[in-house]
Amino acid sequence: MALRLPMRLVLQGVRSAATRVGNGYRAVTYAPQGAGREFSSATVGGRRSDSLAVHRDTPTNNPSIPFKFTPQNEKLITAILSRYPPQYKKAAVMPILDLGQRQHGFCSISVMNEVARILEMPPMRVYEVATFYTMYNRSPVGKFHVQVCTTSPCLLCGSDAVMKAVTETTGLKPGESDQEGIFTVSEVECLGACVNGPMIQINDDYYEDLNANTTKYLLEALRQAARDTSGKAEIPPPGPMSGRQSCEPAKGLTTLASPMWGPEVTRPDL
Ligand code: FES
Repeated sequence: MALRLPMRLVLQGVRSAATRVGNGYRAVTYAPQGAGREFSSATVGGRRSDSLAVHRDTPTNNPSIPFKFTPQNEKLITAILSRYPPQYKKAAVMPILDLGQRQHGFCSISVMNEVARILEMPPMRVYEVATFYTMYNRSPVGKFHVQVCTTSPCLLCGSDAVMKAVTETTGLKPGESDQEGIFTVSEVECLGACVNGPMIQINDDYYEDLNANTTKYLLEALRQAARDTSGKAEIPPPGPMSGRQSCEPAKGLTTLASPMWGPEVTRPDL
C-alpha cells in the first residue's frame, strides 16, 4: 500500500516515519535537534492510498464475473503484441491493462485475470502492475476522474488551493466518488506538466495553470455537462486556463525580446 506523508514535513527537513495502526497509518514525527519540541506524533487522519491495494470480492468485482475483450479490442491487442518479440509479450501488460480498463470502466479482478491469461503471466504479476500505478483504477470511478497533482512543483505553485477548491466543489476527499457517479477525486504524483502547474488531470485531459476560481469554474461546468440531457452543455477545452497558449513565460517574453539582427537581417542602427 502506498503511503504519502505531507510534503510540508519533508520541506521543513523534519524526519518522519510511519507505523501501521489498524487500517490506517500513524505518522511519527521527529523534530530536528534544537527545535522547540523534540518529539511529537500525529495521526494522518487514517490516511491511506487512494485505493486499497488488497483485493476484496464485491458483487461488482469478483473473479466469477466474466470478462472478454471485444472483437475490436482483440484486434488492437494483436497490434500491440506485434511490437514485442513473442517471448517478451508480457511487456505489453500496461497497454493491454489500459485497454481493459477503458472497455470495462475499471481494472476489475476479471480484467486483470484475462490480461494474465492472454499474456501467459502469473496473475500476481499483473496485480502488481495494476496496484503500483495510479493510472489503473481498481474500483469504479465517476464520469469525471479528477486527479489532482500535489507533487513539489505543483505544491509550490498553489496545488493546496486547487485541492481545497476540488474538495469544496465536489464535496469529496481524495479516494472518494459521489453518489451521482459524476466525480471521483484522487491525489496523484507528478503528471509531467510541472511547467504549467498547478494542474489536474480529468480523464485523459490536462487542465493547467489553475487557481481556486478556475478550478471551481471547471468542475461546475463538468457537473452541468454530466447532468445535461440536451447535449448542449459545453466542456471547457483542456490546456492552460490562464490565457497561456502553451508553456511560454507566464509574464511575457524574457529572452529573445529585442529585434532580430544578424547577417540576414539589416540592423536599423547600422
Ligand atoms: S509536479 Fe505537478 S505535474 Fe509535475
